[in-house]
Amino acid sequence: MCGIVGYVGNRDCTEVLMEGLSRLEYRGYDSAGIAVFEDQAIRVAKSKGRLADLQEKMKTEGVPKGHAGIGHTRWATHGEPSDRNSHPHGGGSVTIVHNGIIENYKRLKEFLLSKGIRFESDTDTEVVAQLLDYYYQKTPGNPVDAIIRTMQQLEGSYALGIIFADFPDMVFALRKESPLIVGVGENESFIASDVTAILRYTRKYFLLEPDEIAVLSRRETKIYDLHYRRIEKELKTADWDVSAAEKCGYEHFMLKEIHEQPTAVRTTITPRITEGMPDLTECGITPERLAAFRRIHVVACGTAMHAGMVGKYIIEKLAHVPVNVDIASEFRYREPLVGKGDLVIIISQSGETADSLAAMRLAKELGAETLAIVNAKGSSIAREADMLIYTHAGPEIAVASTKAYMVQIAVMYLLAFELAFAKGTITEEECRRLTALLQEVPEQIASLLEHKEMTQMIASELITADSLLYIGRGLDYALSMEGSLKLKEISYIHSESYAAGELKHGTISLITENMPVIAVATQRHLFDKTISNIKEVKARGAKVILVCHEGYTPEKDVADFCFPLPDFEDLLMPMLAVVPLQLIAYYTAVHKGTDVDKPRNLAKSVTVE
Ligand code: M6R
Repeated sequence: MCGIVGYVGNRDCTEVLMEGLSRLEYRGYDSAGIAVFEDQAIRVAKSKGRLADLQEKMKTEGVPKGHAGIGHTRWATHGEPSDRNSHPHGGGSVTIVHNGIIENYKRLKEFLLSKGIRFESDTDTEVVAQLLDYYYQKTPGNPVDAIIRTMQQLEGSYALGIIFADFPDMVFALRKESPLIVGVGENESFIASDVTAILRYTRKYFLLEPDEIAVLSRRETKIYDLHYRRIEKELKTADWDVSAAEKCGYEHFMLKEIHEQPTAVRTTITPRITEGMPDLTECGITPERLAAFRRIHVVACGTAMHAGMVGKYIIEKLAHVPVNVDIASEFRYREPLVGKGDLVIIISQSGETADSLAAMRLAKELGAETLAIVNAKGSSIAREADMLIYTHAGPEIAVASTKAYMVQIAVMYLLAFELAFAKGTITEEECRRLTALLQEVPEQIASLLEHKEMTQMIASELITADSLLYIGRGLDYALSMEGSLKLKEISYIHSESYAAGELKHGTISLITENMPVIAVATQRHLFDKTISNIKEVKARGAKVILVCHEGYTPEKDVADFCFPLPDFEDLLMPMLAVVPLQLIAYYTAVHKGTDVDKPRNLAKSVTVE
């Protein structure tokens, strides 16, 4: 969601802000703006639309010139996307950018209105700017005091970048829930929603914790708590290089990230395998600890929840432990039956998804132990979980998740193997065999990626469809949920995933020749049953695309196209079958000319509920 960048140093501030914002575009946004100190005065430029629209506007209205300022990409929550509602927002001598939601903004606005203060936008952010100015006017010359007083009034989740007209060489920042980092360079300092925005200039950064306030100048960065006490923090070094956040010749980040999957899987699983056996001890997970749980709940959103669905099938099959999979936004409000003896697994790429974070906190309150599977280092979910397994996918920039899903399921396999062995439901020999097969997966994915042409051809057949159905049974059903989500989020074609055996209980009435069906049938023990379901849709006119093991030649009454997958272990097939589904979604979106990496209305990290 919204992105924040701030800078103070000797470089051209507008250039740094625009470059940083361009790195945050992936988070999703509908307007952008910057505020820069120019000749000691604050100059603001903002525009509805993309950064390119802001650039255009600055061409005609003039580019702010200076060495300190703040910038923002906004994903609208309060008030439509418009120039007027774009950040930065001002209040007297204060200008701010904001990520998150101020829940009590109405009450605060009424208070400020009662003091005669007038508002220019519909945003909750302007209320914060005005409140900051209100307190600043009470103690002029003491910005941190005004910040602390304001923070004491705010309810909700937020990160703020602030400049005060009286302090032209300084940038102030703070956070509560919404992430923010402080970058440290040679005679320059930065703030950013995530480290990708500043990688070009520095890899050194502080991770701001909730209720911490950063005061940045050219020479130094000071961090305070809410009692105005100085805090010493560990300076971290980002282990990603700039290329991790660049397209490197690929047309889109999504395609690049699909191709990064073999490496991502290898980097994620290799350190967790010792002498041929899964080994999660570095993550605080011992076989004994795992085996003691009576039940597992997986709680997540979107693609991460789909990874949990695959996890459910494999854990139940191998370890015989019941697994519930919950959508985090449902789990947190339905008084879940979770407690002591339960393990709650939270899966999240960003580690900042508001619903997943809240669900994890609830699970802890209820007495369950929590295990986070997270990609973003140092994120809130990673920090608060009892146990943590980092996925090592590197930064995922495309809004549509691909490599993060792949490594999430890779971790679910490791967990399932370890748990099953610990429970004695598989032998050591079987555990070793499955672990060895998991290590072969990267190579298998790489060879699949060499045969993209067929997915391009299938995609060209789908672009005229208004609606699609994905069907499968068992693991194939779990997987088809992800295939369907990928297609709809980037190609804007409606699609649903359905358990193949459930179709004739209602949904089959939708089938016509205008509704293509993508059928996944990789589970040999279910193959004939799925083929029967496919015949049912084919008989009703649907065009069928079948994804199954190589060597099967479908009759005319089964499928129009068949995408062959390597002959591999059924249990691990989701890691292979997802690749053509990702590519079909990708090429369909490309054929349709949509904004593949930044699909409309979507944000990469959903930090509001
Ligand atoms: O960062 P998270 O993994 O917690 O995000 C969860 C979902 O918002 C995310 O997977 C979303 O569904 C993706 N856009 C799907 O491609």
